[in-house]
Amino acid sequence: MPTASAPPVIHFGHLAEHDFDGLLKKKYPGSKFILLTDENVAGFWVEYLVTEFESLFDAEIIQLPAGEATKNFETCVSVWEALSEYGITRHDIIINLGGGVITDIGGFIASAFKRGLHFINIPTSLLAQVDASVGGKTGIDLGPYKNQVGFFSNPDLVFIDPRFLATLENDQLNSGFAEMLKHGLIADKNHWHQLLAYPMGNLGEILPLIKTSVAIKKQVVDQDFDETGPRKKLNFGHTIGHAIEGFYLHHQKPLLHGYAVAYGMIAESWLSWKTGLLTEEEFTLIQSELSKRYGALNLDKFSFDAVMTLMKNDKKNSAGKINFTLLKGIGNAVYDQDVEEELILQSLELI
Ligand SMILES: NC(=O)c1ccc[n+]([C@@H]2O[C@H](COP(=O)([O-])OP(=O)(O)OC[C@H]3O[C@@H](n4cnc5c(N)ncnc54)[C@H](O)[C@@H]3O)[C@@H](O)[C@H]2O)c1
Repeated sequence: MPTASAPPVIHFGHLAEHDFDGLLKKKYPGSKFILLTDENVAGFWVEYLVTEFESLFDAEIIQLPAGEATKNFETCVSVWEALSEYGITRHDIIINLGGGVITDIGGFIASAFKRGLHFINIPTSLLAQVDASVGGKTGIDLGPYKNQVGFFSNPDLVFIDPRFLATLENDQLNSGFAEMLKHGLIADKNHWHQLLAYPMGNLGEILPLIKTSVAIKKQVVDQDFDETGPRKKLNFGHTIGHAIEGFYLHHQKPLLHGYAVAYGMIAESWLSWKTGLLTEEEFTLIQSELSKRYGALNLDKFSFDAVMTLMKNDKKNSAGKINFTLLKGIGNAVYDQDVEEELILQSLELI
């Protein structure tokens, strides 16, 4: 059974303007803080945090290798061992500072250690700011199976500060942007069109768009925290996206999550058209906008069977069926859609 916890308070904007330090002191008097981060984020931001905010002057810092390959059980064991060595108790707080890999694995580590430590998310990638850091899903991968082991568990607080994005590479920005486009496609046509008009990379103007995306995600999650119904809408693009991401996980250059989701959205929009839910015109618009930003993967036909096998093992399936979320027009999604295998295979040709 999912472990529900209260939804987090989400702060948008510069950390200092939210009296980040004051909040930590007030909410967690006498607690020790552990900053869990990865090597890239550490290089840019740890010094700033541990010198700027008094509560973090003595924080323990745990730095993991960057990338999806870190999101596994061996990493968890090494962090749990470190927490034990530091004498961390249930009174202490883990701060996840990083992208979705860190917020996913950090939330999982915190939720399992000593039956649950409180944790805070400070997402530093666009993808983590608009998606991974909110919604309460934490977890790790098991071989090629993405997020196979995990908890529903909420952070106490989330701080979304777009200044962190200044050091993020462009392809990582694009990756996060794919989840924002998804939010528009599944729930808000206006958001979709605003995103299409957004000059990519103009970070000075991104905060209102981030806020809208987070509001959409939060609204969906608040209706259905443990994903028995409407939360499945957020899975649009992910049934096929996760399968190709899992397939590429152990390639020399793994596919970025948002890119995998973008290709998944092209294929699943095509399925939406072929099953009569989307018009051809809507499908063509989605395909051209996504292809413009994410190019094509040119998935090898010989990979289709392996991708199908991964899809069949997706944890979102039920009664032996692959569950799709499809678009019923732009800005509206329907879930628990059953699609013939032949059609799914054909959709992979578009990727
Ligand atoms: N829990 C959820 O609801 C949810 C939702 C979507 C995705 N996810 C998960 O999130 C992960 C993908 O997240 P991601 O794309 O953020 O990956 P990530 O954590 O690997 O971060 C991407 C890269 O950007 C670097 N980085 C992050 N912030 C940076 C910054 N400010 N400056 C410079 N470099 C920075 C990281 O070191 C990494 O190399 C996947 O594991 C996915 O399954 C979870």
